[in-house]
Amino acid sequence: MDLNKKEYIDKIKKLAKEKNAVIFAHYYTRPEIQECADFIGDSLALAQQATRVSADILVMCGVHFMGETMKILCPEKKVLIPDMNAGCSLADSCKAEDLKQFIIKNSQLTDKKPIVVSYVNTSADVKALTDIVVTSSNAKKIVDQLPKDAKIIFGPDYNLGSYINSVTGREMILWNGACHVHSRFSLEALLKLKAENPGVEVLAHPECKAPILAQSDVIGSTKALLEHTIQSPAKRFIIATESGILYEMQKACPDKEFIPVPPEVTEGVGCSCNECEYMRMNTLDKLYACLRDEQPEMHVAKETAEKAVSSIQRMLQMS
Ligand code: 13P
Ligand code: SF4
Repeated sequence: MDLNKKEYIDKIKKLAKEKNAVIFAHYYTRPEIQECADFIGDSLALAQQATRVSADILVMCGVHFMGETMKILCPEKKVLIPDMNAGCSLADSCKAEDLKQFIIKNSQLTDKKPIVVSYVNTSADVKALTDIVVTSSNAKKIVDQLPKDAKIIFGPDYNLGSYINSVTGREMILWNGACHVHSRFSLEALLKLKAENPGVEVLAHPECKAPILAQSDVIGSTKALLEHTIQSPAKRFIIATESGILYEMQKACPDKEFIPVPPEVTEGVGCSCNECEYMRMNTLDKLYACLRDEQPEMHVAKETAEKAVSSIQRMLQMS
């Protein structure tokens, strides 16, 4: 990391201390943003930690829905996010009005009221229509706790939903949404990497498509994958998730090697790395300005937040 970045990080940390602010960062953010953070985690850990801190200001370096979740859980706190435009293709793939119609349609087909389970990568409006929120860390654990004969609607991630169906034996009704980063990993490239690196374990996030998961040895949330690399005696791993996690993996295991699976490159489209451009919108200058000016500030309409909070709290209780 160059000196300029180090100086910037020090300035940000000093300002955060003066303002009694806590900085949270997701594993997919830039390395320099992770260096500023008081707490780095996966979606579940970030939500859990937000409820435990006593600071006046919470700064969420991640994407919009993470800031919203934080504000819903901590309505009395000032929640800032460095860039309000840091969205999420998965959250965008499920609009509340469309989900409402989907729930109505599927409720009419049965005499049982469906339980609506939503991945945390959703807007506050979608969470307000949801019975229980889940993350990739706890989806199996929570679905396992639901009555065996329950009719479950799961959204928006189709890949995660299919994977949870396969490990729980459920037949949840799935919304057809996807994350553009996780759904573009190249199976061909993965098979080539496996052939070139025989015996090396493949670690994948459950947002990846089924053929990628079928070739993987460990499937889990960002935190679960990181913990596996720390605990495993293996020295090399093939990684199928957003590449930001490699920074934490390499930091925790400097003697180990991490080989990222590249994305499919369609003619004229695609990039040579697996980066979520929304997560990368968190930059040092935006983080500094956000702390200095105490904006952009996250707001969630009171009525929406009141409806959404119970679905998130249910998740925290069942995790
Ligand atoms: P987790 O942090 O829960 O593994 O989720 C990954 C993700 O895509 C966040 O947007
Ligand atoms: Fe959303 Fe995918 Fe980016 Fe995660 S990696 S924030 S699911 S677009």
